[in-house]
Amino acid sequence: MCDRQDFVAVPPLSGSLTLGMPPAKTAVTVPFAHKTASFGVSNVLDLGSGKGYLARILANGFGLKVCCVDHNRDRLKSSLRVHKLIQQEQVSQTSLGPSGNLHTVAASIENWEEFMDEAARFFRLNTRLGEKELDVAVVGLQLCGDMVYRVIDLVSDCNRPGIRLCEFLVAPCCLHKIVSLRSKAHQASEVCLENIYKDIQEYLVERGFGDVHLGYLNIGYYYIEATRK
Ligand SMILES: C[S@@+](CC[C@H](N)C(=O)[O-])C[C@H]1O[C@@H](n2cnc3c(N)ncnc32)[C@H](O)[C@@H]1O
Repeated sequence: MCDRQDFVAVPPLSGSLTLGMPPAKTAVTVPFAHKTASFGVSNVLDLGSGKGYLARILANGFGLKVCCVDHNRDRLKSSLRVHKLIQQEQVSQTSLGPSGNLHTVAASIENWEEFMDEAARFFRLNTRLGEKELDVAVVGLQLCGDMVYRVIDLVSDCNRPGIRLCEFLVAPCCLHKIVSLRSKAHQASEVCLENIYKDIQEYLVERGFGDVHLGYLNIGYYYIEATRK
């Protein structure tokens, strides 16, 4: 499928950013965070953000503005709690004030229009007056089963003034839950690991994305990146 090398080497992060994170989670989250930061986009929409392991690294380790969306309120609360602890520690070490660069929205990703209003308001906070369009990277780490296809549909259908969803990065998981393939090219193919990754890439192309690329993340996880034309 693609060359694999377990334990992709990435520069180390401060210990507090991965505090309490199970080792397997750290192994995929840290390289995924580096990949996200490499886009050079300051706003990140983290879909299905869970306990916010990725978000806390992006916000506190890379200084990005992160809006987390998840339908599980308890997981969002946990994200904010850890983010605040990290912020307090950074404030006591640097004498800088907390930056408020992580926001959570309790919503189902299907309620896209609803939460995008809130996300857009958050991204717009403290931006330069007259800045017309904000670039946003949409990411989803360990998106379960066919959630990856739903996210692709939602992003490709989004045409919101003032926001440009320019980068797209996902790492699918629980692929055994996928029962059918979506792209015209692979619809009739067998639903197996190799075909699922090919299908996701082809589906992205059909939905108008460009520069689609599959890469290896770690411990058996792959990421797929794309740009929105
Ligand atoms: C496997 S977890 C991954 C969490 C996180 N991205 C991470 O890597 O730690 C999937 C997350 O997606 C959320 N989720 C699943 N379906 C969703 C939906 N339709 N709308 C919003 N969140 C959803 C779940 O609540 C869960 O937190």
